[in-house]
Amino acid sequence: MRYDILTIFPQFFESPFSFGILKKAQEKGLIEITAHDIRVFARDRHKAVDDKPYGGGSGMVMKPEPLGSAIEAVQLKGAKSLVVITTPQGERFSDKIAKEFSEYDQLVIVCGRYEGIDERIREIYEDREVSIGDYVLSGGEYAASVIIDAVSRFVPGVLGNIASPYDDSFREGLLEYPQYTRPEEYKGKVIPQILLSGNHKEIETWRRRESIKKTFFRRPDLLDKTDLTVQDLEFLNQFKKRNAPSFRVYVALVHYPVYNKQYKIVTTAFVNLDVHDIARAVRTYGIKGFFLVQPVREQQNLMERVLWHWTEGPGASFNPTRVDALKLVGIKNSIDEAIEEIEKRESSRPKVVVTDARPKEKMIGYFELREKILSGSEPYLILFGTGWGIAKDVIDAADYVVKPIEGLTDYNHLSVRSAASIILDRLFSSKI
Ligand SMILES: C[S@@+](CC[C@H](N)C(=O)[O-])C[C@H]1O[C@@H](n2cnc3c(N)ncnc32)[C@H](O)[C@@H]1O
Repeated sequence: MRYDILTIFPQFFESPFSFGILKKAQEKGLIEITAHDIRVFARDRHKAVDDKPYGGGSGMVMKPEPLGSAIEAVQLKGAKSLVVITTPQGERFSDKIAKEFSEYDQLVIVCGRYEGIDERIREIYEDREVSIGDYVLSGGEYAASVIIDAVSRFVPGVLGNIASPYDDSFREGLLEYPQYTRPEEYKGKVIPQILLSGNHKEIETWRRRESIKKTFFRRPDLLDKTDLTVQDLEFLNQFKKRNAPSFRVYVALVHYPVYNKQYKIVTTAFVNLDVHDIARAVRTYGIKGFFLVQPVREQQNLMERVLWHWTEGPGASFNPTRVDALKLVGIKNSIDEAIEEIEKRESSRPKVVVTDARPKEKMIGYFELREKILSGSEPYLILFGTGWGIAKDVIDAADYVVKPIEGLTDYNHLSVRSAASIILDRLFSSKI
């Protein structure tokens, strides 16, 4: 593998590759690293590599001509060569990309400086744009060093016999299990005894499970992309149940005060399907209670009859799992009554979250709200509206308004039971 780095500071690379594995790999001829000075390719008297941005603004931009000439000069003809531009705007560099890059004969890595490089270089020469993380570095040289190190570990022979790149973190989409070495006890902490058992099969199972646990806690996003076996999934499910985060969340389906089509405040009627489906979602996602907010007595009587049928009447023996869900449902005259009930049960007033199909000022995203709920200890009440949505006064008084759920079309008419399931999944899914 040959790396050609284009930089205005070639001296930057004098030390990073002169130690350890990368030094040995160069000595063995497995990799070759050359840093080229972009300034050499500047044609004007001052050897300028940067200029002011068109349209004004602070800082300087790297000129296209020296960079373009440098790329053309170093790119190997007839070889499998890739031009990689380092930029915070690129795709996030990962183990998977490192492996892909290792299959090329040559990587030409462009290091930006100043405000970055002229956009046309990207359009003309770029094969891949890579970022090493969501932060801004003062130059692409740091990113180039990271890329070269990670890619070289996949080049055959670079790791020699000392390790396999396939044992490390990310290789099967999981973080690596905890590692220990001598002494057996350090500051009162003893290593897991299974590692002394000599039973390789059991050690392997223990390591696999520790990997899964670590990944679940630290990088649940990785589990989504990992191929887990049926045994892995069974273990993970048991583990998740034992370690489920404790949160105190209630939901309410608001029949009053809501708007009708003419934006008048009305009370809407009970919809049997909504109650069944939201109750089942509530039970699935670990919500502690589900209130139907309905002030009309006749409507309450109807709701009570239906609830009785499924929790105590003939429906209960016909469908016992429905009992589990519907026994979480309670009827309240108002949102305030639901809040008071939660305050009584939890000894603390809940934060109120409203959901609405239309965008509002100052909305909270799902990820942020999930973090708040799961990392805090306060109870929450999430309000779902019926009719044409919850009244403005309720929305204005709420602690949070979550962003509307939107697809990639301009049609936005989800049923409240669909919206409730989607929102509960975004906030409380186990993420795999
Ligand atoms: C100060 S940065 C320019 C940032 C640019 N103005 C922007 O906001 O996208 C200068 C150079 O550092 C490198 N760089 C900065 N952050 C990086 C990151 N997170 N990953 C890869 N390269 C980065 C790029 O080569 C970039 O052209």
